[in-house]
Amino acid sequence: MMSASVTTWAAGDYPAMARRLVPVAEAMVAAAAIRPDDRVVDVATGTGNAAILAAQRAARTVGVDFEPALLELARRRAADDGLTVDWRLGDVCRLPLADDSAEVVLSVFGVMYANDHDAAARELSRVCAPAGRVLLAAWTPGSLLPALGQVLGGYLPPPPAASGPPSRWGDRALVGPLLAAADLRITSTDVHRLDLRFTSADAATEFLIDTAGHVVAERDRLVAQGRWEALRADLRSFVGDRGVADDGGVRLGLEYLLLTATPSSAGTA
Ligand SMILES: C[S@@+](CC[C@H](N)C(=O)[O-])C[C@H]1O[C@@H](n2cnc3c(N)ncnc32)[C@H](O)[C@@H]1O
Repeated sequence: MMSASVTTWAAGDYPAMARRLVPVAEAMVAAAAIRPDDRVVDVATGTGNAAILAAQRAARTVGVDFEPALLELARRRAADDGLTVDWRLGDVCRLPLADDSAEVVLSVFGVMYANDHDAAARELSRVCAPAGRVLLAAWTPGSLLPALGQVLGGYLPPPPAASGPPSRWGDRALVGPLLAAADLRITSTDVHRLDLRFTSADAATEFLIDTAGHVVAERDRLVAQGRWEALRADLRSFVGDRGVADDGGVRLGLEYLLLTATPSSAGTA
């Protein structure tokens, strides 16, 4: 039985988006060069994309998320694959993990959504072992999903107060000081693009709506207010502006920053 959701992350079809994000988890896990004896934690694991890939390489993997319904899907996926992952319910700002508990700390479009950026950065640093590494993926400012958020802004309740926009984590100049204040030093950054292909602009529009739990959660209210069709039309126009014709369909390019950081004290005995 599906666990009851406690956040809007599970209100729509987020797993359909997660399936499209697998290449990002693959890129991160490859960059992490995980060894069999590494302890790995995937922070804000969602349906477990990165944790499941990590568990194919390392014996001890933990996946943390604050949404039980997604964690339950992750648990089922790992069980189906015969993989052992320690799934834990928890907030990125108060990770249910001991200090220095992982050589590899991963977060794919996860920690960027913390309300308290400083607390989240401190938690990544706290759980990372002294000789460990932290790898993060975050949408760059102005890229497709942050821009979509601007379009939706007029229709949705204001997001909870946060330390800054999530895409702060996708800008090296902004995330560098944030991590440095938590004693993490960036050692590499790369900007990548994930392409999502759809049969039509309408299909792309429906996908962006259906996979956005915070939009789906507001649908009844917006329908009752007679504003739902306007939201759909604005999103359709957004897809028209941002989409590229591709083999009879449409392609959306989603740009993200992939970074690696290490404890600042590493190598400075
Ligand atoms: C865009 S999804 C990414 C999920 C997964 N990492 C992936 O690659 O598909 C964001 C995830 O962050 C989780 N999340 C957001 N804020 C969180 C918080 N404060 N603590 C724990 N999880 C959080 C959500 O529940 C969701 O699973």
